[in-house]
Amino acid sequence: MNHREDSVDPRLARASTIPSAWYLDPETLSLEQERVFGRTWQLVGRADQAKSPGDFFAAEVAGEPLLVCRDVDGELRALSNVCRHRAGPVARGSGNRRSFQCGYHGWNYALDGRLRSTPEFEGVESFDSSRVRLPSWRLERWGPFLFVNLDSGAAPLAEEMREVSGKTAGIPIGKMAPVERRDYVLECNWKVYVDNYLEGYHIPIVHPQLFRELDYNAYHTDTYRSSSLQIAPIRPGGGSDRRYPNPENRAGDALYFWVFPNLMLNIYLDSLSTNVILPLGPGKTLTVFEWFFLDPERPETHEALRRTVEFSDEIQHEDIAICEAVQRGLKSRAYDRGRYSVRRENGVHHFHRLLARALAGPASA
Ligand code: FES
Ligand SMILES: [Fe+2]
Repeated sequence: MNHREDSVDPRLARASTIPSAWYLDPETLSLEQERVFGRTWQLVGRADQAKSPGDFFAAEVAGEPLLVCRDVDGELRALSNVCRHRAGPVARGSGNRRSFQCGYHGWNYALDGRLRSTPEFEGVESFDSSRVRLPSWRLERWGPFLFVNLDSGAAPLAEEMREVSGKTAGIPIGKMAPVERRDYVLECNWKVYVDNYLEGYHIPIVHPQLFRELDYNAYHTDTYRSSSLQIAPIRPGGGSDRRYPNPENRAGDALYFWVFPNLMLNIYLDSLSTNVILPLGPGKTLTVFEWFFLDPERPETHEALRRTVEFSDEIQHEDIAICEAVQRGLKSRAYDRGRYSVRRENGVHHFHRLLARALAGPASA
C-alpha cells in the first residue's frame, strides 16, 4: 500500500479523495496507529477523575496500556500500565491506591512509578530494583481534559489547541460538569465517521430535522493547522417544534471543532460535548460521546440536557446508518476515489491532507 503525502492534491478543486483501500486494509490501520494515533494528543479523561493523591484510572492510547494517576505530591502522570517483569497489568479500572500491585506476580510500584518490592526475587543477578520504574508518557491538560501523547517530540498540546482556545475564550468550559456518556459501535472505518462529521453537505438529505434548524447557506468550515471549525448558525424564528432554545440569539450558534485526528468538541455557551472516535478494526469504530453542562443541578438544565441528548442521539443514528452504507460502498470493485465539493467539503479535504502527510511520515516535527 502506497501512503504518500501527494496522494491528496493540495488544490481542493483538483483533488480526489483518498483511495478506498485506505478505509479497508489492516495495513493502513497499523500505520495509522503508529503515525497518527501514536503521534497526536489523545483525550484520555478529565482531571477530576484523579483529584486526590492515589486516584487513578486505566486508559489506552493507540493500543498502548497506560495508567493516569496523581502521586503523593499531587502531580499527574501517565504511567505505562505494563509491568517491567513480564508485562502484566499494573492496575485495572479506576480507584484510589497507595501503591500499585501488578495483577500477575505482585510486583509493587509507587504512585510515581518507582518499583518498590519484588516478592521472591532474591538471587537475581545484575538487577538493581532501585533503578527500575514504569516509564511515563507525556500528559498535558486543556481545560478540564487530560491528553496523552506517545510522541516525545510532538508540539505541546496548547499549540494544537490554539485556535480552539482563542475562539472559546470567555466560555466557562472549565466550569462545565460531565452529565452523560453514550458509546456507539459502528460498522465502518473511523475515517468514514470523521469525513462525515467534517461536512454539512449531507445535512439536507441525511438530517432533515436538523436542516430545518440551521441557516444552511451561512454554514461554513474554517481550517487551521491541525484543526478545523464548522460554524452552524441557528436559523432565526421557526415553528413551535424547534429543538434549540433561543433561536433569535445568534450568539447561541454552535461551534463544531475538530482536532486532528479523532476529537470533536461541540461547544455552546452553556454546554459542550466531546466525541472521541476510536478504531476497533479497519471496519469497526467506537464513538464515545460525553456531555458537559454548566449548573447541571438546575431543573432547567435537566430539561435542556434531556432534549440535547435525545436530539443528538437521533442525529447520531442517522449518521450511523449512512456511514455503514458508505463503508459497504467503499468495498465496491467499481469505486476507488471521489471528488470534493469546493463549497462544502474543504474540511474533509483538509483532514485527508493531514492524514496523507502523517502516514507518509516520519518527519512529524
Ligand atoms: S508481570 Fe508483573 S509481577 Fe510478573
Ligand atoms: Fe451528520
